Amino acid sequence: MALLYGMASRDIVLCFFLAAFLYSSFGQAMPKSEVQPEFLALLENHTVSQGRDVSFTCVVNHLQSYKVAWMKSDSKAILAIHTHMVAPNPRLSVTHNGHNTWKLHVTNVQPNDSGTYMCQVNTDPMRSQTGHMKVLIPPDITDLDDSADLLTPKENSDLRLRCRATGTPEPVITWRREDGRNITLRTEHGVQRVKSYEGEQLHLTGILRQEMGSYLCIASNGVPPTVSKRYYVNVRFKPLIKVSSQLVVAPANSDVVLHCYVESWPKALNTWYRDDGVKLLSDEKHDLTEIPLNDYAYQLNLTVRRLTMDDFGSYTCSAENLLGKAEGTIRLQVKELHLTKTTSIPIRHNMEFLDKYGSRKQMDRKGKHHGFGREAGSLSKNGNMGHTTPMLRRNSSNVLTDVTVKKSKVSSYPAPAPAPAQFTPTQLSVQNSVTSLRQHSRLNCVGLMFAFLVIVICSS
Ligand SMILES: *[C@@H]1O[C@H](CO)[C@@H](O)[C@H](O)[C@H]1NC(C)=O
Ligand SMILES: *[C@@H]1O[C@H](CO)[C@@H](O)[C@H](O)[C@H]1NC(C)=O
Ligand SMILES: *[C@@H]1O[C@H](CO)[C@@H](O)[C@H](O)[C@H]1NC(C)=O
Ligand SMILES: *[C@@H]1O[C@H](CO)[C@@H](O)[C@H](O)[C@H]1NC(C)=O
Ligand SMILES: *[C@@H]1O[C@H](CO)[C@@H](O)[C@H](O)[C@H]1NC(C)=O
Repeated sequence: MALLYGMASRDIVLCFFLAAFLYSSFGQAMPKSEVQPEFLALLENHTVSQGRDVSFTCVVNHLQSYKVAWMKSDSKAILAIHTHMVAPNPRLSVTHNGHNTWKLHVTNVQPNDSGTYMCQVNTDPMRSQTGHMKVLIPPDITDLDDSADLLTPKENSDLRLRCRATGTPEPVITWRREDGRNITLRTEHGVQRVKSYEGEQLHLTGILRQEMGSYLCIASNGVPPTVSKRYYVNVRFKPLIKVSSQLVVAPANSDVVLHCYVESWPKALNTWYRDDGVKLLSDEKHDLTEIPLNDYAYQLNLTVRRLTMDDFGSYTCSAENLLGKAEGTIRLQVKELHLTKTTSIPIRHNMEFLDKYGSRKQMDRKGKHHGFGREAGSLSKNGNMGHTTPMLRRNSSNVLTDVTVKKSKVSSYPAPAPAPAQFTPTQLSVQNSVTSLRQHSRLNCVGLMFAFLVIVICSS
């Protein structure tokens, strides 16, 4: 049964194809009412990037005397009839292969080319088929008229960055910092640091100086190229100065560098002053440098060359901008010898000293020091030549524990004699034990002799 049925169905299929063949072979000769034009394939759908070329293909059999026309169905505009263009659009054209295939070509596709296209045959009722064209448009950032790219909020204030973009599909807006640092978001839930933030608005609340820098609004929709817009955010604040060492000790004749760390935006006017209020300028004596560390911080170095007595004292670095002023003071002190605790120790070397006015004073061999000591302005001329060695400590003796005494020739001083009293108790106890041992052995001897006598008596 099944076999018979199978054979029967094969015959039916064969008959159908034969009929179809005969129909198509003799159709042309047949009356119009009996043979109708038909589409052999669906019109394709296109998704195409702006600027590309694309074409729709319409295949119609048994067209006879009917005509193929192209329409844009959303605008109801007739684009072409057969190969004659109706719409005055130079980017559109129709080709026919002389048989059953018509093509509508669209070159340099534009956004307004998107929509539904129809291939139509003017039968009654008309026959048609449609295909869609979707035009992909790369993102484009639209300038919002109230947005500036240079923003200068005050520290701790709020800043809202806005960015909008067009494109197909709808672009996604992402915010990043250009230097790759995280974006700080402060909400009622706390502080959050994120690599990137998605949304048309980036709300920076309570902005701090560390958040200064370039922010990028990046619009992307998968259609290249991705575009971005840069916003420069500069946070305004009153200058800040940090001085790492407020006291700098240096020997005469040496060069010294004083450091000030400054934070300021807008950039401050930086100056160095002496205690007498004299502003310092770069010259043979002084070198002023400003080394930028980031957008708002820099290092101020003041080099004072070949220190003389006049150079010791206070130096003030000052930074001032529109929001305020900051200062830092550094005391530059002479690295000096002072022998308050070791006046009895003879000094073996002749030393020359400079007094406040730079004149030399001779010091005698016994170390009587004229104008020598703690008085401001006096110092050893040899201070940087090895006679003063800072921080030399001797733990074993209490003689030189004062670290302000800096003598490299310390080894030549007489070593303190060991205190004999410390050893006395030990020596005494040794003597005692020796005595008792002697007494002990004398007793032993008596006992031995006694025992010997007993043995002799007993044995005899
Ligand atoms: C084109 O898209 C429509 C709906 O969007 C769909 O019905 C049709 O089948 C598609 N045509 C082809 C050839 O895929
Ligand atoms: C479509 O856009 C192009 C370029 O943007 C323009 O030249 C053309 O006139 C527009 N066509 C229509 C029908 O709006
Ligand atoms: C920056 O953000 C990323 C995630 O967005 C996080 O994993 C990372 O720990 C953050 N870095 C800092 C220093 O906060
Ligand atoms: C300035 O001082 C800093 C900190 O000590 C130092 O690293 C830098 O090399 C100095 N620069 C100049 C030019 O003196
Ligand atoms: C000296 O004292 C320091 C601590 O004050 C100690 O670390 C060091 O080992 C001592 N040196 C000697 C030689 O005793």
